[in-house]
Amino acid sequence: MKFFVDTAEVDAIAELNELGMVDGVTTNPSLIMKSGRDIKEVTKEICDLVDGPVSAETVALDAEGMIAEGRELAKIAENIAIKVPLTWAGLKACNVLTNEGRMVNVTLCFSANQALLAAKAGATFISPFIGRLDDLNLEGLDLIADIREIYDNYGFETNILAASIRSANHMSECAKIGADVATAPPGVIKKMADHVLTDKGLDAFMKDWASTGQTIL
Ligand code: E4P
Repeated sequence: MKFFVDTAEVDAIAELNELGMVDGVTTNPSLIMKSGRDIKEVTKEICDLVDGPVSAETVALDAEGMIAEGRELAKIAENIAIKVPLTWAGLKACNVLTNEGRMVNVTLCFSANQALLAAKAGATFISPFIGRLDDLNLEGLDLIADIREIYDNYGFETNILAASIRSANHMSECAKIGADVATAPPGVIKKMADHVLTDKGLDAFMKDWASTGQTIL
């Protein structure tokens, strides 16, 4: 499973990138707002840092507007994936931009039917939002499993990009289901390394080692 980082904070991306943990980046209008940066400027910096796809989201609500914005965003770098919402206008824009040879990420997906439409429209990525479904007491992970089954039934090549990830548990569950990609905030990716027994075990090893009086270097 590929790891995308869900943020527009360049320092956080750089830190994880040095560990080889970044296969791509996703941004959205809220993340750009939180960064306080200009969309084109910060997106260019991210694209220069990361080799994989960097999703930049359009904000027009009509297809023509999305297509024009998508073409403009694609000028930032070769590795831009244009993000459009899962509306009929977004699907039309997806179809046009895909036929131009561009990567398209169809976002705000909350149902298997929506994911089926995105695949038919030729999306490179479909972004089902797990956390926002969980917030409504629905099973976000079930949606990932449903989409995996449907795409595998017909050999759709659209990549399942599990989004709106809120916990380290979401990451391993997405990997078990077979999501192609999971995009998570830097804090969630860091938490994946945590385990209380690791901390406890390391503490015991350090105490025992200190009592031997030895050094390795
Ligand atoms: C990424 O592509 C999505 O925009 C993001 O994961 C949404 O996450 P949120 O539901 O935590 O805002």
